[in-house]
Amino acid sequence: MDDFEIRDGEMFCEGVALTAIAAEVGTPVYVYSTASMRRQARALQEALSDLADPLIAYAVKANPNSAVIATFAAAGLGADVVSGGEYRRAIKAGVPADRIVFSGVGKTADEMRLALETGLFQFNVESFEEAEMLSAVAAEMGRIAPMGFRVNPDVAAGGHAKITTGSAENKFGIAISDAPAAYARAAALPGLKVQGVAVHIGSQLTDLQPLERAFTRVGELLAALRAAGHDITVADLGGGLGVSYDPSQPPPASPADYGAMVCRVTRDWNARLVFEPGRLMVGNAGVLLSRVIRVKPGATDPFVIVDAAMNDLMRPTLYDAWHNIEAVRPRGATQRSNVVGPVCETGDTFATGRDMDAVAPDDLVVFRTAGAYAAAMAGTYNTRALTPEVLVDGDRWALIRKRLEVEELIAGDLMPDWLAGCAAVAKG
Ligand code: LLP
Repeated sequence: MDDFEIRDGEMFCEGVALTAIAAEVGTPVYVYSTASMRRQARALQEALSDLADPLIAYAVKANPNSAVIATFAAAGLGADVVSGGEYRRAIKAGVPADRIVFSGVGKTADEMRLALETGLFQFNVESFEEAEMLSAVAAEMGRIAPMGFRVNPDVAAGGHAKITTGSAENKFGIAISDAPAAYARAAALPGLKVQGVAVHIGSQLTDLQPLERAFTRVGELLAALRAAGHDITVADLGGGLGVSYDPSQPPPASPADYGAMVCRVTRDWNARLVFEPGRLMVGNAGVLLSRVIRVKPGATDPFVIVDAAMNDLMRPTLYDAWHNIEAVRPRGATQRSNVVGPVCETGDTFATGRDMDAVAPDDLVVFRTAGAYAAAMAGTYNTRALTPEVLVDGDRWALIRKRLEVEELIAGDLMPDWLAGCAAVAKG
């Protein structure tokens, strides 16, 4: 089921024509479907409905827009945050504090204080050194910090090297073999409630096997920790389930398959399970809407130069990621094309030798599957405005982040005294 489809010759997001959004907001612009987000949340909730009270904590990093977080909060999800900024966004968007998990390898004392002040479900602590800092901060505030250690199960998850996290050489978590000693030492620290164990092995995982291997190791650790006297009541299984980017490839495991595997592996755990899905919730709920500036001949195939660039959507240049590119008003023909942005780097390439809808200058195109890690990772390289975001819900739509205009970017620069004269001279 897809909420971006061609009707009467042009692409709609739910009940709204993308041409209408482009006409009013301009391009490039991210467009998200509320119906898609709700459906994904429901699919995972249903897949996990045999579990007793699971906590599905939406991984805010995938798409941190406040309206997106609020959409998931209204659907009953919590939030997985990795910075003080994400924590504040989650609270402000209406996520109850007791549904917030705080992950991340470099939490500062200030971030710990912020979360302890308002409360949270659990800190996922990534080293014994971090547990010591958390203990000191909590003790000084007279609070008890609920925590679990993130363990690294040393399972190769496959996928792109830049987003795999569960191999021994990655920076995340503590080695699972060191976990019993870390729990014993943490249990002796003041200010901590050592209640959980957490794992997350990578992202855009399409196959359940590495996840099952990791969860099985977590189950063994859980038993060992309880045998050693720790009262572990929470197991956080992280995120990572992939979505379909290229419809010509076999689809990734579904939420239902994932849920069935989780229920089977964790049947005897007797722990509250936490999940941290990001991409699965929003990946296919968004597109980047862009306009063709011009088409110029190439050595073999033409270059389609669009007004979106690597600063707006980094995934292709960073991870060689595939995003389907489709015309908003298909002309009924296809053309092998190279799709590039205006930024002055060869890496600013979205597709090479791609058979896709034929397009002409001024046509609108969409980059599909751009709801996750897309706007979230956008920047302003080449002094380009920061791309706005729009949320559609049925027949209505709203701007949920305004375009950060070039004038505003320039206004953020400050001129030191000793250059002020030169700038004035240059101006005058
Ligand atoms: N939990 C933790 C601790 C994580 O580090 C992540 C993602 C998630 C949950 C959510 O994972 P998901 O369900 O979205 O796979 N920028 C990259 C992806 C980086 C993922 C980082 N961590 C990309 O565009 O593919």
